[in-house]
Amino acid sequence: MTTFVRACELGELDEDTPRRVELDGTPVSVVRTGGEVYAIHDICSHANVSLSEGEVEDCQIECWLHGSAFDLRTGKPSGLPATRPVPVYPVKIEGGSVFVDVHASLTQES
Ligand code: FES
Repeated sequence: MTTFVRACELGELDEDTPRRVELDGTPVSVVRTGGEVYAIHDICSHANVSLSEGEVEDCQIECWLHGSAFDLRTGKPSGLPATRPVPVYPVKIEGGSVFVDVHASLTQES
């Protein structure tokens, strides 16, 4: 069973500009980049910092506090100080709206 919920309109997303939303109590950063839309848990795995306040580049979102960047497809950090991935979630676009399933993490642990 999937539990997609509406996050925002596709037209509300500017390229490489994360948008923070709260879905079923989970903070999520929705990112449009390179023609795709991704959804990643909005809190860094290193400390309680909002990833949506960071920069997006090369399909990664960078934590502004210490600089770890997380892959928007896998949730994996590219380098220290973060060592653990951040959950990433399935996205679907329907009728011009973006839907995210925060109950089905796509994160790869290793
Ligand atoms: S809080 Fe994100 S890398 Fe330290």
